[in-house]
Amino acid sequence: MKAKSDIGLLGLAVMGQNLVLNMNDHGYTVSVFNRTPAKTRAFKSGPAAGRDSVIAAYDLEEFVQSLKQPRRVMLMVKAGHVVDNFISMLVPLLDPGDIIIDGGNSHFPDTTRRTHDLAQKGLLYIGTGVSGGEEGARHGPSIMPGGNKKAWPAVRDIFRSIAAKTPNGEPCCDWIGPDGAGHYVKMIHNGIEYGDMQLIAETYHLLHAGCGVSTEELGAVFERWNSGELESFLIEITAEILTVKDTDGTPLVEHILDAAGQKGTGKWTGIDALELGVPVTLIVEAVFSRALSSYKSERQEASRHFSAPNIPFSGSRNAFVEKVRTALYAAKIVSYAQGFMQISAAAHQNDWKLDYGSIARMWRAGCIIRSRFLGEITRAFEDNPKLKNLLLAPFFADAVRKAAPAWREVVIEAVRLGIPVPALSSALAFFDGYRSETLPANIVQAQRDYFGAHTYERTDHPRGEFFHTDWTGTGGDVSAGSYNA
Ligand code: 6PG
Repeated sequence: MKAKSDIGLLGLAVMGQNLVLNMNDHGYTVSVFNRTPAKTRAFKSGPAAGRDSVIAAYDLEEFVQSLKQPRRVMLMVKAGHVVDNFISMLVPLLDPGDIIIDGGNSHFPDTTRRTHDLAQKGLLYIGTGVSGGEEGARHGPSIMPGGNKKAWPAVRDIFRSIAAKTPNGEPCCDWIGPDGAGHYVKMIHNGIEYGDMQLIAETYHLLHAGCGVSTEELGAVFERWNSGELESFLIEITAEILTVKDTDGTPLVEHILDAAGQKGTGKWTGIDALELGVPVTLIVEAVFSRALSSYKSERQEASRHFSAPNIPFSGSRNAFVEKVRTALYAAKIVSYAQGFMQISAAAHQNDWKLDYGSIARMWRAGCIIRSRFLGEITRAFEDNPKLKNLLLAPFFADAVRKAAPAWREVVIEAVRLGIPVPALSSALAFFDGYRSETLPANIVQAQRDYFGAHTYERTDHPRGEFFHTDWTGTGGDVSAGSYNA
């Protein structure tokens, strides 16, 4: 067979199929392969029918041989050992300089390992986040590639042509960085996605269960919110979801069991935040909220033991709806600030040089967290590439300053009504901690020194000088080390 395909895509689940069609629409000849041949046949005679430049291969060698050199093989398979299995089957069939791209939701340390292992074999590896679900894959996803930069020139045009475009027409795809940096940024994207979803769910809960706003009315509220600074894909779909009726004419959401699932990327974000020591409180609360929701039967039992405070909402509902919108916006700013704190800590730890403005631009369209707000984040990093924290960018500092009074009122009201708002309230606690020059960590340090001679630093001495006190008069002068994990 004469090699004529620009790229090969392996794994014909819905994301893979849609990426093939998207690439083909942009003029690329694509070879396809799937472990189950029937799936390849069904794709070729179904969604890809009549497309001569989508070439079906039924054996891996034939698939590889159909590709122009340097060969570009994109894997759209389940993350984990399936990726490793396909890589080991592909390696003997490829030549030095050929490129393997993993477009699944792989864990970034795996991508770092694979990039290095394959470089030893002369092969170039890219691990790329692809966001936007089925629709995005078909018509323009956000693509976040990282790994071996030598491969970038060979895939750049394909990826940038199929990617979503920002309102200014820029592709939502650029080189992120070495190792697992692309998958890292996708992982944080997903963590932020968890946070955004949880914040929206909390505002729904507070207004519906706490203030008696009907699901139908809330559909209209979210639709209105979507025409302002909260404009985003997730607000838009929530507005739509709230209008969908079940067969009996009542809102479908009211029949959906309140136990949330998760595939693990939010959990990875939380674990990594703990490893790095970055206070990414909002995303972690969102992950734990899903976990708590899954205790459905235990919650049912507990609800018989503890009733909610019997205090009805009083005051103007319309005014409160606006305060809730403001609180959601402020908490969202905190969430993105935390996400970028984590990316920056990872960049520092791994010696990655990342362009934060460009990352925000890649999320501006195509992906699940796409929003108008990301345009402001790009601007904040472009105005000051050394920005320490998004909360310190003039635009966001001003927004949070203005939002804070309403945000506090919303959290107070939620606590009064007994409606849990872990993301809205932990974001506020983070903000109050972040803006406090003084925190009670002096007490923690004193306690540590009291029971374990762990030492402390003093406000009247330079940092790095450690002191120990014999608090009880019965301890010795020996102190423990002062290392920080
Ligand atoms: C995307 C999404 C996607 C994610 C799903 C499910 O960017 O298109 O982030 O990659 O896997 O939304 O995630 P959970 O099952 O963990 O909610």
